[in-house]
Amino acid sequence: MVSVLRLEGVDVYIQASEILRGICLEVGEREVVCLVGRNGAGKTTTLRAIMGYLRPRAGRITFLGHDIVGRRTHQIARLGIGYAPEGSAIFPDLTVAENVEISTWTRPGGRPGRERIEQAYATFPQLRRYLQRKGTQMSGGERKMLSIARALALDPTMLLLDEPFEGLSPAIIPEVSRGVAAITEQGQSILLAESNIHHLPPFATRLYVIERGEIVFAGHPADVWRDAAVLRIIGG
Ligand SMILES: Nc1ncnc2c1ncn2[C@@H]1O[C@H](COP(=O)(O)OP(=O)(O)OP(=O)(O)O)[C@@H](O)[C@H]1O
Ligand SMILES: [Mg+2]
Repeated sequence: MVSVLRLEGVDVYIQASEILRGICLEVGEREVVCLVGRNGAGKTTTLRAIMGYLRPRAGRITFLGHDIVGRRTHQIARLGIGYAPEGSAIFPDLTVAENVEISTWTRPGGRPGRERIEQAYATFPQLRRYLQRKGTQMSGGERKMLSIARALALDPTMLLLDEPFEGLSPAIIPEVSRGVAAITEQGQSILLAESNIHHLPPFATRLYVIERGEIVFAGHPADVWRDAAVLRIIGG
């Protein structure tokens, strides 16, 4: 497996509390890797550490062979990691079209902006219907799609998606899920955090379970259903 992202023995403290303990995790090319764990297990903290918002006290994080610990968030984004945070980070006063376009300015270089914007809308075609609407005029599900579309327009090699299905109605989950599947068909890798094991996308290639800041399972998604101890944790 060609490694795109690798975390080795990552410890993160927030104030005096040890929030992540020795996290080891790897994402390969075109993989959809899921990080599953209960509320408060450390999923968002892991993604924030990768993006450079939190600096690990120990361990290594490498992206495409670059050591990224200590780099600034915008530098990490420019290396090619797109981040769609929990709860959809969009600009509420900008239109859908402006929200997507602004990402192409954040990470200049790479493919032309027009192509990147086109991929974002091809992934979530519904967004084309609302191009001139402001963020505040969209539903939670639409904002979620817009937030992922924004991360995509950065033209990332890899996307970090924090609970992309959270708060979505069962009817809309397959739509967002199809969009996520389309991303990997473009050759990008995904690390997806999820608290509900029933929301794992069927195309997930590997799974890590995190509990109290530690990885307690790493393997194929199908194998998790045979692991009683892990199922007790994530409530399968
Ligand atoms: N800024 C902070 N200050 C203090 N503690 C924090 C802070 N951010 C997170 N924590 C703690 O770190 C732990 C992990 O939080 P994290 O947000 O990573 O969990 P999560 O797995 O993303 O949970 P959820 O499913 O609820 O989003 C929790 O115990 C949380 O209370
Ligand atoms: Mg979280």
